[in-house]
Amino acid sequence: MNNFTFENTTRIHFGAGQIEKLAEEIPEGSKTLVLYGGGSIKSNGVYEQVAKALEGKEWGEFSGIEPNPQYDTLMKAVEKIREEEFDYLLAVGGGSVVDGTKFIAAAVRFDEGDPWQILTDHKPVEDAMPIGCVLTLPATGSETNIAAVVSRGADKLPFISPLVRPTFAILDPATTLSLSPRQVSNGVVDAFVHTIEQYLTYPVNAKIQDRFAEGILLTLIEEGPKALTTPKDLEVRTNIMWAATQALNGLIGAGVPQDWATHMIGHELTAEYGIDHARTLSIILPAVMKMQREKKKGKLLQYAERVWGITDGSDDERIDGAISATVAFFRQMEVPVSLSDVDVSDSAVKKVTTRLENHGMTQLGEHGDIDINAARSILQLAL
Ligand code: NZQ
Ligand code: ZN
Repeated sequence: MNNFTFENTTRIHFGAGQIEKLAEEIPEGSKTLVLYGGGSIKSNGVYEQVAKALEGKEWGEFSGIEPNPQYDTLMKAVEKIREEEFDYLLAVGGGSVVDGTKFIAAAVRFDEGDPWQILTDHKPVEDAMPIGCVLTLPATGSETNIAAVVSRGADKLPFISPLVRPTFAILDPATTLSLSPRQVSNGVVDAFVHTIEQYLTYPVNAKIQDRFAEGILLTLIEEGPKALTTPKDLEVRTNIMWAATQALNGLIGAGVPQDWATHMIGHELTAEYGIDHARTLSIILPAVMKMQREKKKGKLLQYAERVWGITDGSDDERIDGAISATVAFFRQMEVPVSLSDVDVSDSAVKKVTTRLENHGMTQLGEHGDIDINAARSILQLAL
């Protein structure tokens, strides 16, 4: 196991009725800006619950943060916060609202020019407003982690800063019952691939991280399809919600190598073609597994045995079996598994590799060996 420092300071209130905890979480005397997306919280009753919990407190609202949050929209919130002197941010929604709020929190206190430089030039975040969140879509893990992904025109870029980690996160699985089947699938697949990015690398004898990751994968494989076939089952949603948080709260990634090539290639596919985040992952991951099968051999065999129960056959046969089982799971979750599934032609290979090059994404993967040529091969395998 590699050395690590682990910290996750987000206080989690999990379960039915926990939105009322906002009353005690929002600091006394603060002026809170509630940020949300396109209106799902208005139709599923979450907005009313939030408004009720905030009764007696000073608060305003900012709506319209889009999926894959857009810089221009977020900068409008920055302006409002400065003009109206809000001092606390409450994100209510999915990963895009939480990520957007993280960027806003940093941008408000960034005074070295355009805050977009935090993403393009990795300018350090030296200060940020405090954030709390009410999560309504289990997928990204953004509710307790330090990452955010923001889009500006044709660019979609990530940044990380411990200063934007939410102080608290409220997770009531009942809020997820209004998700469309597409968003349910996306969430399960995103959490699955987050786990894989931190697990399917090379062995470092990190038994706890491995077994915890395998537990998350097995839970998602067991519960994910049920969320589609029995969409009103709250216990299924409850297990999925907790799995998604655990998949990217830092714990399974501590002390182990991490990959993230699938995500970085996927972000470019979203920026170029507008494909949902999770669907880019289900398209690219099988190709990464095929391309890197020798370098990931040890972990692929472990994954085959412990996650899919594949113990018979040669090494190659078991690895093939694990890749096929992964693809079959994605199909069962009704997400695409190739570029042709989303009607994207082979011109994507050139477009996406050019984008990766422009963004300096030329040393991806746990060995840093996925250069432009390797990325090209992965995209070709994903056609
Ligand atoms: O905007 P509203 O009206 O709220 O509708 C949203 C949106 O249209 C809807 N939705 C959310 N909760 C709902 C609901 N609809 C009905 N009932 C509910 N309870 O779902 C749609 C998608 O929402 P979005 O927030 O975009 O989805 P998700 O949570 O999957 O977030 C995706 C974003 O997170 C980034 C992705 O790149 C993408 O931009 N990621 C962030 C990460 C992080 N911070 O660590 C890691 C991830 O890998 C990922 O890259
Ligand atoms: Zn993701």
